Amino acid sequence: MDWKAKWIKPKEDMGEIIPLFRTDFRLDREVAEASLSVTSLGVYEARLNGRRVGEYVLAPGWTSYRHRLQYQEYDVTKLLSGDNQLQIYVGPGWYRSRMQGEVQKELRKEPAGLLAQLEIAFADGERAVIATDGGWQAAESEIRFCDIYDGEVCDACVIPVWNKDVEVFEGPAAGRLIPQEGEEIRERETILPMELFTAPNGEIIVDFGQEITGYVEISVEARRGDVVDLSFAEMLDKDGNFYNENYRSAKAQYRYICHEGRQTYHPRLTFYGFRYVRINEFPGGSCRAAVEDFRAIAVYSNMRRTGYLRCSNPKLNRLFDNVVWGQKGNFLDVPTDCPQRDERLGWTGDAQVFVRAACLNFDVEKFYRKWLADLAANQREDGCVGRVVPDLFQKAQPSAAWGDAAVICPWTVYQAYGDKGILRNQFPSMKKWVDYITSHTRERYLWIGGEHYGDWLGLDAPAGSYKGSSRDDLIASAYYAYSTELLIKAGEALGQNMSEYRKLYENIVTAFRKRFPSFQTQTECALAVHFRLAEDCQAVADQLACLIEDAGTKLQTGFVGTPYLLHALSGHRHVDLAYSLLLREAYPSWLYPVTKGATTIWEHWDGVMEDGEFWSKDMNSFNHYAYGAVADWVYCVAAGIQTIEGHPGYGKVRIAPMPDYRLDWLSASLDTRHGRISSQWKKEGEWWRYEVETCVDAEIVIDGERQEVRAGRYLFYSRATKLLA
Ligand code: BGC
Repeated sequence: MDWKAKWIKPKEDMGEIIPLFRTDFRLDREVAEASLSVTSLGVYEARLNGRRVGEYVLAPGWTSYRHRLQYQEYDVTKLLSGDNQLQIYVGPGWYRSRMQGEVQKELRKEPAGLLAQLEIAFADGERAVIATDGGWQAAESEIRFCDIYDGEVCDACVIPVWNKDVEVFEGPAAGRLIPQEGEEIRERETILPMELFTAPNGEIIVDFGQEITGYVEISVEARRGDVVDLSFAEMLDKDGNFYNENYRSAKAQYRYICHEGRQTYHPRLTFYGFRYVRINEFPGGSCRAAVEDFRAIAVYSNMRRTGYLRCSNPKLNRLFDNVVWGQKGNFLDVPTDCPQRDERLGWTGDAQVFVRAACLNFDVEKFYRKWLADLAANQREDGCVGRVVPDLFQKAQPSAAWGDAAVICPWTVYQAYGDKGILRNQFPSMKKWVDYITSHTRERYLWIGGEHYGDWLGLDAPAGSYKGSSRDDLIASAYYAYSTELLIKAGEALGQNMSEYRKLYENIVTAFRKRFPSFQTQTECALAVHFRLAEDCQAVADQLACLIEDAGTKLQTGFVGTPYLLHALSGHRHVDLAYSLLLREAYPSWLYPVTKGATTIWEHWDGVMEDGEFWSKDMNSFNHYAYGAVADWVYCVAAGIQTIEGHPGYGKVRIAPMPDYRLDWLSASLDTRHGRISSQWKKEGEWWRYEVETCVDAEIVIDGERQEVRAGRYLFYSRATKLLA
């Protein structure tokens, strides 16, 4: 892109008020084509002749701004006329909101900068460029305040007065600007309220029946100066009152000052994570509000849904839906931990834990390609990968299982979609991460020392700690082995000689076995089995089964152990127990939150405790996708749809369903790059009936029996031994 445009900002500081930039121009020739390229230090919304340009919400998206800032290009041919007016709002967005971290502190000092360039090709072959420069004007807009955490204040009575000058300044250089790389963020779904009710404490609350990420649109008849003031929450407390203390310092408020008459409006430069909305003020009083006045708009990255799970158990179906909503709510350009409290950051560990499920539910190749490019851009010289990407805490020490996202995510995306491009792009970063561990550990071939999150939120955590009891050094060394193993596979897929890393891997495994001959927790066992580090994996899987049974058929795992727990069991003759954990409804379990009315995945197994009280408010998100990783076990083991390493992207598929007598039927389908693959099983008397559809060659394994088939639909039966017993 050849930028003629100059970065502009309001000459005078407007404080919290969001500036609106403007230029007017006349075109007196026929336009063949026109495109508008825009980016900003914050988030922008552009309007040409009063019409919104494009559908991108919160453009230009969130990247590692110090290195990469996306710009978008819109075809605006149809929006042009003779006399034209282009207006662009620039809000703080992720760039300048009060988010955490020393990097953010610096970004926040930058101005509300705008860069825009309209390129016009006339029918007669002439061209013209209209670009931001000192001749543009600015005004204080009706958006009086806006912040990612704190919400938006809009005064619809404000009519912009074009009395502010703009100033050209030295913004990000052209080299830092990149064309849109990820998926656009869009308004994807509209949800009507389930009910509007008066809580026991008298507050008026709208319940949308589903936790989403996005905003609320209000439609009201009002007098000039009337106010709509809303607060957002995920939960009601045990008495049925509005509860949002778990948002911590995030004010998450929406205040709208009405103009005269009928009006429809929603926030435009921020978002909220919520299911409930409390009406603090409303024209004529809160009690005048009606359900018809509200609708929720779910905003997330424009990824295509690819995977579907259904079964005979309604609670499990709700869990599947919650996993999908967890992904929608946290895939807003960056895979975030949560969308509501004063965090909403691209935690690398969470992304790594969930990436397999993410690639099944939706086509996320483009989404991850962009995020991983940010990860690489943020990676330190010495190879250290931050705890969050975009990295706002550049100086923080890395944590095992978090930094490993650098290797696990590209490999998983490659397996899901089969394009080596992601490996080629990320290979230097993957290698740097493994080399970082090699050069920073205190003991050769193991990762000893360092500060790690460990098995974050593991239930075997000592009192007062968020960290499960599994040993840091064991977890870190296990991931060192796993990342090295995946790096070797990636390198070999790219035709590289990986013999040096092969040797390294062998040495890590030997050292691991020597240093960790036995395992003490469920997570330690799950890692040792799933990463094949234990000398005798079957014995350790048996030990894992005993640990679970001794605990009362309860899982104790946190972020690190949970994604592998069921795999470690089902891969070693404990399918039955894996299903027992999946189907368990009492705390702790995946279905426990469902029994408590969850509509997304919770951060804690007991976000709401059995007595109805909340976990402490400082760390209790109800939309934290990590434990939703279990969906990948349902696709890959219960329904049995698996990638085959030598045939990435489902060039060939393995379908090895594992039914369970406690379900009457289960079905999974997946839209791969080659077409649809589906697998379903159901009980028929004393038989399991399997129906499989594959668009590619497949290796089908039914009840231990293997066969190779071509694309097509197939029916199999096996004796339901457990049913007979
Ligand atoms: C986040 C997590 C994250 C963690 C690091 C939390 O505050 O919400 O999901 O991975 O910090 O342990």
